[in-house]
Amino acid sequence: MSLIHTSHLPVPPPTVVDQPQNLTLWQYMKPIRAKWLTGVAVAICASVIGISIPQVLAWIVDHLVANENPSGSTVWAGGLLMIGLGLLQAGLIFVRRMLVIDQASTVEMSMRMSLFDHLMRMPAAFHDHWPSGQLLTRSTSDLSLMRRWIAFGSIQSISSTVMLAAGLFYLFRGSWLLGLIYLCSVPFMLLTLWLFVRTMKSLTRSVQQQSGDLATSVEESVQGIRVLKALGQGQNSLSRFTAQASTLMNTEIARSQAVGSMLVKTISITAVTMAISLFVGIHQVAQEKLSLGELTAYFATTAVLTPQIQRAGMLISMWLDSKVAMERHREIMQEPVGEDVLLVSGVTTPQVSRHDAAGVKFEHVSFTFGRGKKEVLHELTLDVAPGEILALVGSTGSGKSTVLQLIPRLYAPTRGKVLLDNTDISTIPLPELRAQMAIAFEEPVLFSSSVRENVLMGVETEKFNSEELESIVATALRVSASDFVDTLPDGVETLIGEEGMSLSGGQRQRLSLARAIACDPRVLLLDDPLSALDVNTEEAVVGMLKEQLKNTTTIITAHRPSTVALADRVALLDKGRIAAIGTHSELMKNPAYARLMLLNPDDSTAKNHTSQNQEVL
Ligand SMILES: Nc1ncnc2c1ncn2[C@@H]1O[C@H](COP(=O)(O)OP(=O)(O)OP(=O)(O)O)[C@@H](O)[C@H]1O
Ligand SMILES: [Mg+2]
Repeated sequence: MSLIHTSHLPVPPPTVVDQPQNLTLWQYMKPIRAKWLTGVAVAICASVIGISIPQVLAWIVDHLVANENPSGSTVWAGGLLMIGLGLLQAGLIFVRRMLVIDQASTVEMSMRMSLFDHLMRMPAAFHDHWPSGQLLTRSTSDLSLMRRWIAFGSIQSISSTVMLAAGLFYLFRGSWLLGLIYLCSVPFMLLTLWLFVRTMKSLTRSVQQQSGDLATSVEESVQGIRVLKALGQGQNSLSRFTAQASTLMNTEIARSQAVGSMLVKTISITAVTMAISLFVGIHQVAQEKLSLGELTAYFATTAVLTPQIQRAGMLISMWLDSKVAMERHREIMQEPVGEDVLLVSGVTTPQVSRHDAAGVKFEHVSFTFGRGKKEVLHELTLDVAPGEILALVGSTGSGKSTVLQLIPRLYAPTRGKVLLDNTDISTIPLPELRAQMAIAFEEPVLFSSSVRENVLMGVETEKFNSEELESIVATALRVSASDFVDTLPDGVETLIGEEGMSLSGGQRQRLSLARAIACDPRVLLLDDPLSALDVNTEEAVVGMLKEQLKNTTTIITAHRPSTVALADRVALLDKGRIAAIGTHSELMKNPAYARLMLLNPDDSTAKNHTSQNQEVL
């Protein structure tokens, strides 16, 4: 049984990124290049046909003017030819769309998958400093801009350029003087467009950046909606959001104004050019240097060309959108992934057979969350024997969660080594390392799927039949005292809302614990997993966990003595150093530890359990 059925989805080939700093849209287009180039060729044919239609018009007009009794058949033939060419052009435009639209969507999907794959493989440190809204817009709207460019903008730009060249050829062939007049307007047009590009470039980047910031705000506000409501911060939050939204609106308006001003300038240049051409053209017809048909063709040709030139502004803005979007995409793709897992290519979790519990060692480990940040762990040395349950205690901020996160290599030590069964974990491939451990985080995170799917998330479900899976779920729920699941409307099949928000904090915590237990890992890492439970439930869970974890090395961080009761040994962490290690009663002689434990009212539970522990020891 697979939790997510993806087999029916089209999977675009992953893009192999050797040098992500040089990553281009062209590389992503590799699988569709042939069709895209065919689309370009078809579009060029359509443009050439479109710009040639005025020549037929010239022929008809000249025929009408030259013959006093023009034959109807020539007019009919000319008219039918024009209709035929028009239909052919329309047909080619249709073929071009059919050729490219699906293909552009495939590139968009492939880019989206590469980006998501990259994001999944990024070390936790990357996600510490990248706002999620930015990642959201980069995987949604930015990529749609790129699809629009591939499907329309790029092809339109090429075909319009060819149309302009063919149009100029026809203009010069009709009358070199009129052709020259039209050509003289081109540098003015180019200057206008160049100024436009300069303005638009920075505005485009600002719009995309500000959209990302806005998405971050929406996300934070929706996630923290309860806090905002409870603190009566709705109005303030709205004001902050309004300020951000109006900044974005102003930038959008500035963009529209730039487009508008560019259009006014290009239309004015065109109007002046037409006026001069009309003046010169009529003069040339009067002097019989130009036929009436040729003059008609001139204006008909410029009538086709002018909208193309005016559209250049929109095409340039589309090109800039896609260019900036590609830069923003590259910015993420060139961040070193640092994790040797490849998701897109379908590399599955390695088959790590369940051995006995593994030993975990820290050797002189120092750690900082980033350059310039303070050192959180200093020369930490710790030896946890296979099958042992070790409690990590210490005041808040002493580094307990950090120690746990170094073991599955969510972060790498700055100095020193972490060893699993005496092997440096930096030498173990990540999938292999992580397949041997499970972690329940301090902040339980659930996903919007059923209770069963949440519990089985870390289990290789294909290895078990459905009865075995039922039994894994049942055991995990029993040991974590998640009996509340029976009272949910559909039991284990109940869909839990976004991030499990429909459950209480304690219920979420127990499901998160159940998920970690269900993996039956060699090393279980529990970050204060019972903090939201009442003392009775906690006692029940501690009893069942102790039984369940006989063959699992467990490191559990705790604030409450009642959770410490689970442990064979306790390590006291003080400002990133192990200050003391031993059984609970040994450590009670340590004044700092005693103070930490005695501060807690349910200390009696710990004393009872620790006396049992000592009997075991
Ligand atoms: N992602 C992070 N980036 C930078 N600093 C961090 C990060 N996470 C934690 N820290 C810092 O590292 C130190 C240790 O944090 P840690 O979460 O390990 O403490 P803890 O012992 O688990 O605390 P608590 O009992 O409150 O859970 C703290 O000073 C904290 O500010
Ligand atoms: Mg913590």
